Amino acid sequence: MRDDDKGGGADRIAIRALHKRFGALEVLKGVDLTVARGEVVVVMGPSGSGKTTLIRCMNLLEEPDAGTVTVCGRTVECGGAMRRRERARQVRAIRHRTAMVFQQFNLFPHLTALGNVAEGPLSVRGMPREAARVLGLGLLDRVGLADKADEYPARLSGGQKQRVAIARALAMEPEVVLFDEPTSALDPELHAEVLAVMRELARDGMTMVVVTHEVQFAREAADRVVFMDGGVVLESGPPQEFLNHPVHPRAQAFLRLVAHDTPAPPPGGEPPARPARWEHAR
Ligand SMILES: Nc1ncnc2c1ncn2[C@@H]1O[C@H](COP(=O)(O)OP(=O)(O)OP(=O)(O)O)[C@@H](O)[C@H]1O
Ligand SMILES: [Mg+2]
Repeated sequence: MRDDDKGGGADRIAIRALHKRFGALEVLKGVDLTVARGEVVVVMGPSGSGKTTLIRCMNLLEEPDAGTVTVCGRTVECGGAMRRRERARQVRAIRHRTAMVFQQFNLFPHLTALGNVAEGPLSVRGMPREAARVLGLGLLDRVGLADKADEYPARLSGGQKQRVAIARALAMEPEVVLFDEPTSALDPELHAEVLAVMRELARDGMTMVVVTHEVQFAREAADRVVFMDGGVVLESGPPQEFLNHPVHPRAQAFLRLVAHDTPAPPPGGEPPARPARWEHAR
């Protein structure tokens, strides 16, 4: 148990009254969200609703203007309420406990799959080279890529690259993993392999916040779905409840489009044509 786990409560993440603007654009307008230990929260919402900004604020990759961010018992009060050194200490602690998986993988092209996974343990955690290699190989095996350890990213498929990126995130032994649309840059046939790894991670009890429109994943792996629109959380609930019976008309309109956007092909038939992206539903 880390020292900050003592008295940290069951919540791994607690976001309170979070505000963020980019110039004149107010992107987050007072977001409250808690994520319990081991909980899997899926965040959905139209393009531009602030989903990426919200999860980037969770590990302070983005600097919120006001509100508080608490991760694993470490709190950052935003908007100048904290002494600079104390704030920097809390931010460092939060970053050590969170890992992020991006839409575009962000692998180092000059490193092999193993090199990518071992890089953090070597350079950030100061792990001896052999230990980092063993850890890296174990994690590549866990995401089904033991045989690709020596391949460079250019020779991996998108799905394989994203699985390396997940292994790389896990190599930092995070307590929370934040995913930003991890499958949306992939061809549909590659979604399943990435989602399978994520489902297993969820089953193993990892605390996860996943921005995704993968309805099936939300049904199977999420404890809760949070629907954002216009910089606020409009609705949240257990997946079966939210996905089957959304209350807010904007959530209903959004889900009608998303449900069509991730069609299950009928047996032997062509999948239905994709409708325009959901942002056009506004
Ligand atoms: N660094 C930035 N500078 C200026 N504006 C930004 C910045 N990052 C995001 N925005 C704006 O903030 C709004 C919310 O962006 P965000 O990326 O959080 O939305 P999103 O819900 O993740 O959308 P998408 O589904 O398209 O990924 C958008 O209008 C976007 O243009
Ligand atoms: Mg986004």
